Amino acid sequence: MTDTAETGALPVEGVPAARVLDEIRALRAADRPTHGGRLFAYVYDPGVAGLDQLAQAAYAESAHVNGLDPTAFPSLLAMENALVGAAARLLGGGPGTSAPDVVGSVTSGGTESLILAVKAARDARPDLAEPRIVVPVSGHAAFAKAAHYLRVALDPVPVDPVTLRPAVADVAAAIRPETVLVVASAPSYAHGVIDPVAEIAAVAAAAGVRCHVDACFGGWTLPWLRRLGAPVPPFDFAVPGVTSISVDLHKYAYAPKGVSVLLHRDPGLRAPQFFAYADWPGYTMVNPVIASTRSGGPIAAAYATLRHLGEDGYLRLAAVTRDAVAGLADAVRAVDGLRLLAEPESTVVCFTADDPELDLFVLVDELTARGWHTQPQLAYAGLPASVHLTVTAAVAPRVAEFGPALAEAAAAARAAGPVVLPPELLALAGSLTPEALTPDLIAGLAAGLGLGTGPAPDRMAAVNTLLQAAPVRLRERLLVEFVGLLQRPTW
Ligand SMILES: Cc1ncc(COP(=O)(O)O)c(C=O)c1O
Repeated sequence: MTDTAETGALPVEGVPAARVLDEIRALRAADRPTHGGRLFAYVYDPGVAGLDQLAQAAYAESAHVNGLDPTAFPSLLAMENALVGAAARLLGGGPGTSAPDVVGSVTSGGTESLILAVKAARDARPDLAEPRIVVPVSGHAAFAKAAHYLRVALDPVPVDPVTLRPAVADVAAAIRPETVLVVASAPSYAHGVIDPVAEIAAVAAAAGVRCHVDACFGGWTLPWLRRLGAPVPPFDFAVPGVTSISVDLHKYAYAPKGVSVLLHRDPGLRAPQFFAYADWPGYTMVNPVIASTRSGGPIAAAYATLRHLGEDGYLRLAAVTRDAVAGLADAVRAVDGLRLLAEPESTVVCFTADDPELDLFVLVDELTARGWHTQPQLAYAGLPASVHLTVTAAVAPRVAEFGPALAEAAAAARAAGPVVLPPELLALAGSLTPEALTPDLIAGLAAGLGLGTGPAPDRMAAVNTLLQAAPVRLRERLLVEFVGLLQRPTW
């Protein structure tokens, strides 16, 4: 953006509405396609005609409603309670179940739900000076963020390189007297595998510790897949010892972004999640979640989406998605040198390459060049680099095209050969400490990789190869620096 008069956010004279919208549409043209089943991360598209329009209308109805005070806006409270009830019922709670007293809150997303699950667990144990949480390394990075924000120590548990699940004995061994929460994923985002929730919850319960099931990704698919006959292991409130569950409505409930639900087995478990403050001269404040002022837009849009799709809609979408997953997995199996890292058991297809001539990061770029947007995952702790596909219902009509595209991209990646970075750069990446990174060094690295203040380069294989060569702490620091270069004001 160079022409400030044209694109600045605060022009001297206001711009007519139609032109503003045109400008936004022009900016959006550079984005990855949110609809159409060719983007396998970030977005969840059911491909249902009219659903976007409904959600947008519902969003607009409530955009200016403030969730700060549920007594001032009972419409929002009613919709939140309905969303929590629906999520609880889907996940083994509510009247007539073994968890009749389930309560919950609507949050802005999975990360907020997880931070609040950790906060509730921490604040339930004010006697502990140094609380800790036990999280399999396949658990979402948001747990590390929660630990960091809340000053709780993180005890990671390794996962088996074949099953990609933690051993229950390792989870049990990681629990200490200071442990306030044990985590299981249903499923993990990276690989889409479901942790042994029943066993993990049992060891947590035996130690008197809360157990959170992160079903942010799978909580709105696994129940339907089970109804369709898939062998989904118990992972919800039917499992004794599970004390809280998170499920994101902006993922597989296909609601617009900004809505997740955090459920607790009973009100007592939820209580320490809340924050109240009356020790100031302003309004007495009570916040169930992190934000104080909250737009009603996402909540109304989620409510409209659930009501419109209904159980039959979600069941149908789950069946379509299940078949798409099977088709994509077959496409991977058909390409020499590629291997599924895990047999799909939910809605993720994750594969790796066994052939050193087939560089996965180059393959991802070749797929991008052909209009297919997949997500590369760096090698980590004995696990190989992999490619992640989040599969949604909108992918189904594309499956037949994906196989040939994958084969073609793999052939092109082989022909191009693996990324070769200058040996001195690789040596630097392997040996640098984050503290040794100077602004000059960062600027030089970024320029060398084509990362500047503009959009990211079309080909990211070199960036991914460099990041992969770096130890974890340096990876983090480089990411912060590179994104910091992007986040600069336009004047
Ligand atoms: C299992 C799991 N937990 C938590 C999150 C974080 O969710 P959000 O990006 O909505 O904060 C994700 C996101 O993909 C996830 O897959």
